[in-house]
Amino acid sequence: MRDGRVAGKKALITGGAQGLGAATGRLLAREGAIVSLADKNLVGAQAVAAEINAELGAGTAFAYALDVTQEDQWIATLEAANAAMGGLSVLVNNAGISIGGNVEELSLENWHTVMHVNVDSVFLGCKHAIGYMRHAQPGSIINLSSIAGLIAAHNSPVYNASKAAVWLLSKSVALHCAKHKLDIRSNTIHPTFIDTPILDPLRKMFGKDEAEAKLARQIPLGRLGKPDDVAYAALYLASDESRFMTGAELKLDGGISAM
Ligand SMILES: NC(=O)c1ccc[n+]([C@@H]2O[C@H](COP(=O)([O-])OP(=O)(O)OC[C@H]3O[C@@H](n4cnc5c(N)ncnc54)[C@H](O)[C@@H]3O)[C@@H](O)[C@H]2O)c1
Repeated sequence: MRDGRVAGKKALITGGAQGLGAATGRLLAREGAIVSLADKNLVGAQAVAAEINAELGAGTAFAYALDVTQEDQWIATLEAANAAMGGLSVLVNNAGISIGGNVEELSLENWHTVMHVNVDSVFLGCKHAIGYMRHAQPGSIINLSSIAGLIAAHNSPVYNASKAAVWLLSKSVALHCAKHKLDIRSNTIHPTFIDTPILDPLRKMFGKDEAEAKLARQIPLGRLGKPDDVAYAALYLASDESRFMTGAELKLDGGISAM
């Protein structure tokens, strides 16, 4: 077994083809975990898995095609990843999307799309993963909410609502596991703007430098976060260092919510 803060852990990470999911996969693997990257972009997930295996050895990372809105795909992916990794002790519900538009502009179709991807995904992941995780305790479920799940904006009603839903859903899962004497924790991470492709629509709208400057001005620390800022929070939550933390939230917001 490789050494590290999550040595021997077996982690499934959704949205692992790029951005925060890929960064989390790389860091958990470097810290001793076996990782499964699941994404609707299979080619991207395979590329990240190949990089990890080239760096750390074959069998460290696996890739799966998963649309997180589809229950049958969740069931098949969990079964395959559990078999490939020899268990499942960490679930990172990271896949997510954002569609803007204020409450008068937003279509019902776009409302449903975001709620399916951001909320149904976390429900389905928790619902079907706990059965595997109970055999690999202590376990940790890490759900990507957002600072936008705690603080609203006039032009992101569905993103706000979806990420607030993830926040409370995660606490309910934590209490369910505790009540059933399962050593499986469930916590949320709430980042502000982090430098990933999710910000590309804004970069297209305003130009890269202007878009990033606009976002940075909203953050007391005066800069965007880096994917590793979030990956290190996921590492802490995945590791046994956070054994007494459940039903909680970690804000990585450069000070926004302190104002
Ligand atoms: N980057 C930020 O500024 C930021 C801030 C707060 C919260 N978040 C949250 O963090 C998570 C990751 O964000 P990111 O910045 O890495 O985004 P990203 O757009 O860079 O990556 C998202 C990944 O999710 C995958 N994905 C999207 N829909 C999917 C589906 N239906 N099934 C499976 N995979 C799907 C995409 O293919 C992609 O690989 C999201 O939940 C996002 O809401 C991001």
